[in-house]
Amino acid sequence: MAKKRVTYVCLECGYTSPGWLGKCPSCGTWGSLSEQSPPPAGESGKRTSKGADPVKLSEISVPSDARIETGIGEFDRVAGGGLVRGGCVLLAGSPGVGKSTLLLQVASRLAERGERVLYVSGEESAFQVKLRAERLGAGGDEIYLLPETSVESILSVIEEVSPSVVIVDSVQTLSTETAQGLPGSVSQVRESTALLVDEAKRRNLPLILVGHVTKEGVIAGPKLLEHMVDAVFQFDGEKGHPYRVLRAAKNRFGSVSEVGVFEMTGSGLAEVSDPSGIFAGSGAGGVPGMVVYPALQGMRTLLVEVQALVSRSYLPVPRRVSVGVDLSRSQILSTIVEKYCGVSLAGCDLFLNVAGGWKIADTGADLALVSAILSGALDVPVPSGFTCFGEVGLGG
Ligand SMILES: Nc1ncnc2c1ncn2[C@@H]1O[C@H](COP(=O)(O)OP(=O)(O)OP(=O)(O)O)[C@@H](O)[C@H]1O
Ligand SMILES: [Mg+2]
Repeated sequence: MAKKRVTYVCLECGYTSPGWLGKCPSCGTWGSLSEQSPPPAGESGKRTSKGADPVKLSEISVPSDARIETGIGEFDRVAGGGLVRGGCVLLAGSPGVGKSTLLLQVASRLAERGERVLYVSGEESAFQVKLRAERLGAGGDEIYLLPETSVESILSVIEEVSPSVVIVDSVQTLSTETAQGLPGSVSQVRESTALLVDEAKRRNLPLILVGHVTKEGVIAGPKLLEHMVDAVFQFDGEKGHPYRVLRAAKNRFGSVSEVGVFEMTGSGLAEVSDPSGIFAGSGAGGVPGMVVYPALQGMRTLLVEVQALVSRSYLPVPRRVSVGVDLSRSQILSTIVEKYCGVSLAGCDLFLNVAGGWKIADTGADLALVSAILSGALDVPVPSGFTCFGEVGLGG
């Protein structure tokens, strides 16, 4: 008789080992390896049941209402014109940035348009969500609230309520009987997402999942999660600033260069439909180290102010600090300034900042950053009305 082959899978990172280990060699977690038996004969290898029939591409018709507009312009812009039926969006953001607020507002606007929304909250009780809804002025008869974390229960409620949009806050709290491990573990997140995405595709309803981010800023859970969904939106904001920026890191149905800008207020997130000037700083002319650059975001141009402060250092190793600019990029640019502009930054601390909590994601800001560093180092302000953009290569 053939010996039954057993493998051990890490419930945190998915690492597979032929034997049991106390510590996962891949992610370093203790006690996370769990025994997994191969599926019974017949379930793998040979196909036993007939799947879907192939359809000619030319014979497939796209319904005219393939997209559902939420009515929140900044959200629809990032989504590529609205939520796609059967499409799954993963909305990720750091704690407290306003994910639940944004989605409750989206739910409310959809309900006003006659869409039935199922809002599944695995993190807050119904009463807590209601409190927030009252503060936001959100509501409507067509929003169904479900404080639940079991995927099987959520699927049966979807069957019962037949919503036209489902929002799940958050995917890390979900658990399913078909996977092992605690909620938030790799196997639970993967399996729960797969079940919900399958159901959404089958019923042709848009699904929005909230995802947590780790302290390193990446989406918690398996990388596979980002492949399983149709779009990944990131909701960002700098501490102490009211502005929040929604970007698409991936979108199967739209451009990833569009951004949505919101302002966090006491009554929720307000759309900033003309954000051209909000990241341009105080506009204090005549101050060295301040340069405004036009950042092209999809169909819009935003004016963003980059700021550089260069001062004498009292430390053996001068400080290089950057907020809103990638540290390696700022180090490359400061070296370019030293090498090709003949300005020495040795013995100087260099602080780079971007006004309004904006985060620079394109190399088009290079020239503005170089100008700001030069202006700060030479203590010479740039002329008023000066703006520049362009990538700076290692050759200067
Ligand atoms: N009364 C209020 N006035 C102004 N802003 C408020 C008020 N109450 C909450 N906020 C803002 O809302 C934020 C919390 O929003 P929300 O709960 O939607 O965030 P979240 O991203 O869902 O957080 P979590 O990851 O913890 O679920 C707070 O950080 C704060 O900025
Ligand atoms: Mg929340």
